[in-house]
Amino acid sequence: MTKIKILSETLINKIAAGEVVERPFSVVKELVENSIDSGADQIFVTIKNGGKDYISVLDNGCGMDVDDAQLAIERHATSKISSNEDLERIHTMGFRGEALAAIAAVSRFELTTCFDEQIGGYQIRVEGGKRNHAAKIGFPLGTRIVIEDLFFNTPARQKFMKSVNTEYGHIHDFIIRLSLGYPDIQFKLTHNQKVVINIPKSETFVDRVKHCFGNQISDDLLEVKHEESYLSYDGLISFPSKSRPSKRWQHTFINNRYVKCLNINHGIYEGYKTLLMKNMHPLFFVRVTIDPSEVDVNVHPAKTEVRVKNARLIHTIFSNSIAGKLKLGTREQFFPATDTTDNEDGSTDTLETDHTEHLSVIPPEKPSETETSIYKEKNEQLSFVAPQPETTFTNKKKDSLPESQIRSFENKHFEKQTPDTAGDRSQIHHTTPHPESDLLEKSDTCFKVLGQLSNKYIMAQGDQKLILIDQHAAHERIRFEEIRRQFYSKTLTSVPLLIPIMMELPPQDGLLLEQYEKEWEQAGFVIDHFGGNDYSIKQIPALLQNKDIPRIIKEILDEQAGFGKTGKLEAFFNEVFEKIACHSSVRAGQSLSVEEMQSLVDQLTSLNLHLSCPHGRPFIIDITIDELDKRFKRIL
Ligand SMILES: Nc1ncnc2c1ncn2[C@@H]1O[C@H](COP(=O)(O)OP(=O)(O)OP(=O)(O)O)[C@@H](O)[C@H]1O
Ligand SMILES: [Mg+2]
Repeated sequence: MTKIKILSETLINKIAAGEVVERPFSVVKELVENSIDSGADQIFVTIKNGGKDYISVLDNGCGMDVDDAQLAIERHATSKISSNEDLERIHTMGFRGEALAAIAAVSRFELTTCFDEQIGGYQIRVEGGKRNHAAKIGFPLGTRIVIEDLFFNTPARQKFMKSVNTEYGHIHDFIIRLSLGYPDIQFKLTHNQKVVINIPKSETFVDRVKHCFGNQISDDLLEVKHEESYLSYDGLISFPSKSRPSKRWQHTFINNRYVKCLNINHGIYEGYKTLLMKNMHPLFFVRVTIDPSEVDVNVHPAKTEVRVKNARLIHTIFSNSIAGKLKLGTREQFFPATDTTDNEDGSTDTLETDHTEHLSVIPPEKPSETETSIYKEKNEQLSFVAPQPETTFTNKKKDSLPESQIRSFENKHFEKQTPDTAGDRSQIHHTTPHPESDLLEKSDTCFKVLGQLSNKYIMAQGDQKLILIDQHAAHERIRFEEIRRQFYSKTLTSVPLLIPIMMELPPQDGLLLEQYEKEWEQAGFVIDHFGGNDYSIKQIPALLQNKDIPRIIKEILDEQAGFGKTGKLEAFFNEVFEKIACHSSVRAGQSLSVEEMQSLVDQLTSLNLHLSCPHGRPFIIDITIDELDKRFKRIL
């Protein structure tokens, strides 16, 4: 006697249901997605006890005729695809033709539908996969599906259902999420006879986001729109300073489907690179439109994860465009219309371009004797050497100027900017501030420096507002961009040490250092293994002269040990640039003259920089005269 038997249809359906119907939330998801596919613009969901006892989804979509209604609850019955080609270009939420059959196999199921009000409606009831009722019935155009006693015939699954609150929470969040992708549709959720969500139809996407997450959220967000032939997207992203400690405010829709797409997420994070503080995450609500054949949604039973064909391109589109938009968006708050180098879409030609392709640069040429000595001399005075405005770094300009001329421009600029007494920071003299008229005349800045607070913050006057700038963080960003520019244009200068500095490293750090020896050298550090755990530092970036080099190297190694696999090299270089910038910038607590402060503020105005330090801390805030008037009760 054979031991192997073909399973009954009912049993097959029950087993298959396990994949699609995990919990009340998955039932709601499948039913609501069907309603969306039916073209409805009103979808009403009613649940009892988190959907464990009762789920009803009512829509005003196209409905089904009698034949379709009967087929709808069969397995592998769908109106949405019919060929291989269709499977490659899915534009509906469903396509497998198994959701209704799966749900009906593990519940008491009732389908009532009408596709023509003249003809009237039709109702079918199924219990645990067995049809037990079918009849004509009066019903308006649309469909209603009612599920009672989910998993009544699969007790093991019933046990795995979570508490009412957990199940309700999942359904609530799902409706909110889904509604973002469909601002044209009205969604209503009623739980235990209480209306908990009621979002009107015909909203804009931005209004819908506000509706779902509260009006205040829009203060934290920046509208984005990007179009190119391969894909377009629009939505809202948070200002870097408004990031949150959790990732739960991140929503991506591809062709209206709510999905997780790692390439898009990673691309967006790249765009925020050096703008986010540690363990902080951006908020984003992004709707992507792309040719459906570029996206495979058939990779996950619940269709929540997708695979994209051109992952690299998508990643690059997002990282570049988001970086550009963030810079433009944050600068516009403070410097209206100062960003002449940005492209229309907010992306930038220079500093924000993807440098990864250049990462195999040859080590910077060793500075010539004269170069080294010039640098040595000037490094002492380096605090306020203004880097050139970004426009002079564009490829066009650079191409038209021979390297030697750029250098001589830099040097001239340097000399002009440097007070002749400079050299030792302690010698910075505190000159009498310029009379107001003088400052205004000389400077074309939009901020006039008023003074320094606690030797830490620069106070300046902007248009109808008081501006406060964190001197260290602001200078750090200026330095960081300058170092990065010099590195990629191979003009970052390093200096040999007459007496090498010895450093001891734990074996794992020593290993890491040796592994990246070439990259350290590209960044200006020549470090030799001396024997045992000892290393000798023979050459360092010029900007780090007189700094605690072993400490800086150890800090970089510490960070490097925590990097993930992707983007390792770029992350390493950024870390090095950050450290050099941090250690060569003015410190908090350092007293500055008005000229020095004005020079720094002017650079912020003229250079097209992000308004946060390379670790993501914002360095500029404002208080409007209106706010002051309110606090002084001049206006109520
Ligand atoms: N609310 C509805 N309004 C109109 N037709 C519906 C509705 N719900 C289901 N249908 C019809 O029933 C068919 C079967 O639905 P079912 O959810 O089982 O499969 P599907 O949506 O085609 O694919 P998937 O299993 O991926 O969801 C659908 O293809 C559709 O034609
Ligand atoms: Mg479906």
